[in-house]
Amino acid sequence: MKNLLLPYEVTKEAEMAEPLDFNRRSRLMNTHRVFKAEISSITQLTEKEKLFHIRILDPAERQRFTFLPGQFVMVEVPGYGEVPISIAGSASNRGFIELCIRRAGMVTSVLHRAKAGARVGLRGPFGTSFPVAMMKDHHVLLIAGGLGLAPLRSAILHVTENRSDFRNVHILYGTKSPDQLLFDYQYEQWRRVDGVNLSIIVEEGGDGWTGEVGLVTRLLDRIPIEPDRTYAIVCGPPVMFKFVCNKLGELGIPMRRMFVSLERRMHCGMGKCCRCNIGSTFTCKDGPVFDYWTAINLKEAI
Ligand SMILES: Cc1cc2nc3c(=O)[nH]c(=O)nc-3n(C[C@H](O)[C@H](O)[C@H](O)COP(=O)(O)OP(=O)(O)OC[C@H]3O[C@@H](n4cnc5c(N)ncnc54)[C@H](O)[C@@H]3O)c2cc1C
Ligand code: FES
Repeated sequence: MKNLLLPYEVTKEAEMAEPLDFNRRSRLMNTHRVFKAEISSITQLTEKEKLFHIRILDPAERQRFTFLPGQFVMVEVPGYGEVPISIAGSASNRGFIELCIRRAGMVTSVLHRAKAGARVGLRGPFGTSFPVAMMKDHHVLLIAGGLGLAPLRSAILHVTENRSDFRNVHILYGTKSPDQLLFDYQYEQWRRVDGVNLSIIVEEGGDGWTGEVGLVTRLLDRIPIEPDRTYAIVCGPPVMFKFVCNKLGELGIPMRRMFVSLERRMHCGMGKCCRCNIGSTFTCKDGPVFDYWTAINLKEAI
């Protein structure tokens, strides 16, 4: 096994120098090339999740790299493989890209063993985004379960940084236990933003937990909702989508104004390899963000 303690170069760069003739959209989005990047810092968030700050090495490319909340990048660990990871940071931050990564299998375990200074490759950004433009002048419900806070955080940061664009903002977050809560050091900061409400709930509180206990759907019971003026984004395990979106439906929010982010195994990230299809829909290109009506009409998507 290679040791990521020492930085080393992205090995596939030569192969990527002459990109295949991908479609025009991918050329416009500059998605055919690998950005050489380095891990500039790593923060342990929970036992299984770490926050990585990734810096594109070339200053001009770093400045040019933009994304929309909800999009993802393919992170290449040279010699090991590539994984799709949602961008968890703010789109206004041009210095580094924030990725919250759970240790799941081979590639993510190598990343968890890496130290600051290790080199990685980045492709993207890919995929559809949360409808932040459409959400303007509406109430916003941002709902996450577990690791779902990683993609949702980019939307939370967008909404808090552009506070005057939105009406009331409610962030609802649930995990199994208190030690699994991600980004807990930021909660007070979010709560301090005028008109932003954050509610946290865990399934099993245990000793020392004085907060709410139960499922995230419970938090919806006490939020005043104007269904005609509300958008909802729901991120988390697929099992959560049905419960949360059904509840949102009962509260009168149309399915077309609920958005979910779907995860499938991905390889190219850009509609070329057919690894992520659900029928004729590419999760990487037509998604990962879908409105709930579209998502439940994709066979076996949820
Ligand atoms: C659009 C998108 C955004 C993602 N964003 C994040 C993120 O922000 N943070 C994060 O930690 N993870 C995210 N993931 C999941 C992440 O890509 C997988 O955990 C990773 O690919 C696993 O790779 P591995 O080599 O470490 O594990 P592997 O050895 O490939 O697999 C380990 C285990 O994880 C499961 N798995 C692998 N890939 C996926 C997948 N795509 N979806 C569900 N289960 C999978 C496998 O079935 C296996 O049980 C995202 C996935 C997608 C498709
Ligand atoms: S990941 Fe290759 S087509 Fe979607």
